[in-house]
Amino acid sequence: MNNEILLQNTFEKIDRYIKSNSDKGKPLVKFKMPAELTSIIDPEIAEEGITEKEFLDMVDNYLEYSVRTGNKQFLNQLYSGFNFPAFIGEVISTLANTSMYTYEVAPVATVIETEMIRLMNSYVGYSDGDGVFLSGGSNANLVAMFSARNQVFPDGRFDGYDSNLKLKAFINEQAHYSFETAANVLGIGAKNVVKVKADKEGKMIPGELKKEINNAIGKGERPFFVAATCATTLKGAYDPLEEIADICSEHNIWLHADGSFGGSLILSDRHRHLMNGIEKTDSFAWNPHKLMNIPLICSVILVKKRGTLQQNITDINADYIFHDIDQIEDLGKKSIQCGRKVDAVKLWFAWKYFGLKGYRSRIDNSIDMAAFAEKKVMEHPDLELLTPRQSFAVCFRYIPGRETDLNAFNLELRESLRKSGKSIVNYGYIGDTLAIRLITANGELEKSDIDQFFDNLLTEAEKLDSVYKSAASRKLQKSSI
Ligand SMILES: Cc1ncc(COP(=O)(O)O)c(C=O)c1O
Repeated sequence: MNNEILLQNTFEKIDRYIKSNSDKGKPLVKFKMPAELTSIIDPEIAEEGITEKEFLDMVDNYLEYSVRTGNKQFLNQLYSGFNFPAFIGEVISTLANTSMYTYEVAPVATVIETEMIRLMNSYVGYSDGDGVFLSGGSNANLVAMFSARNQVFPDGRFDGYDSNLKLKAFINEQAHYSFETAANVLGIGAKNVVKVKADKEGKMIPGELKKEINNAIGKGERPFFVAATCATTLKGAYDPLEEIADICSEHNIWLHADGSFGGSLILSDRHRHLMNGIEKTDSFAWNPHKLMNIPLICSVILVKKRGTLQQNITDINADYIFHDIDQIEDLGKKSIQCGRKVDAVKLWFAWKYFGLKGYRSRIDNSIDMAAFAEKKVMEHPDLELLTPRQSFAVCFRYIPGRETDLNAFNLELRESLRKSGKSIVNYGYIGDTLAIRLITANGELEKSDIDQFFDNLLTEAEKLDSVYKSAASRKLQKSSI
């Protein structure tokens, strides 16, 4: 194999791929069922290596059959968009391939991660805060709960968890499932995560939290952790931090804010008020890989008190790695990972490129696009808004002009839209009602992209309706014969 030929050809393919992200004629996905895809991709490893042509075909096939999340019709997930400077940062950091644990092997990345943590803490208002990049929002929530547990039960780090302590955690009933997993991992048990009632908009009700905490105390249990959510996964709701912080401070409970989805709203002067009180929390999960459009994974846990993360780690007796020789604390000493990607680097490339102002306006734009989409839903006679929009998520459904099972119809609509390759949007349930959930996470969306999405959706809906109508008229003709 000639690696120079491979490199040159791969660069050309990358260039074509990036350009075609904005090609409206290109499907978002060439959908294949798993068996067919397996035969196209040929995932098995053979005894002999492959040829140059086969290698380049692998590149083509990977890009051809993957979902184009950089296309602006990818409105499915809480992440989307192609971020050019962050992509360059990812490539450069993979090229230099190092691990975050020590300054010795990652001097540049250590300086960069330290600055990113400082900057992010300055937005939150943690004046003596700290933080570390880690492998996703779920893990940020885990480290937050871990830190809270170690604060109330430091011996647990050595002795293991004592169930006589009866620790209880409290979350919004619509919070992310990672908190139950965290309680499971920490030996606290998912059953000991109390789901606090939310109001109609999806926000945790402070009075209900108070009630649940008092209930637990009455039963001799020990409330130790409350997680507020800064944008719930389905409705995009922001829990009222000020009121929740007052309750936590009254009972001396660790308050975590899960901003895995909506934490980046803190960058916006216009909308930051939804997170008023954030400086009163003890920890904050923030995922730049969602609303800042950094390539996955790029996640941070921030803590109010310096030293918290180091205390989580027991017995660093790894003198084969941490030599304390460079007049700087190795960042590996505050991480539960050993080897760790330099995810701060791609964020730094992007933040430098767009500037503080650029990111402010990207976040504002995402909110503006969600407001525009919500207005379109409200103004269209066949669309129904299922819950008032809170931030970046618009939950709605299509109402066909006939009696039908609306959940089944909207599920079919979402599926046929996905398989058409024109737009991809997700769905979830609000109570028993299936809601199509449009997410405007891509900071570069324009009104024309939202218009395009609704055109695609309505065209598919009309197609589904006409199939039904012609089947119904065939049935009618038959019965009249
Ligand atoms: C509110 C919330 N918390 C946590 C997570 C988990 O984040 P990650 O996917 O980075 O693990 C998500 C993901 O969608 C989320 O919406």
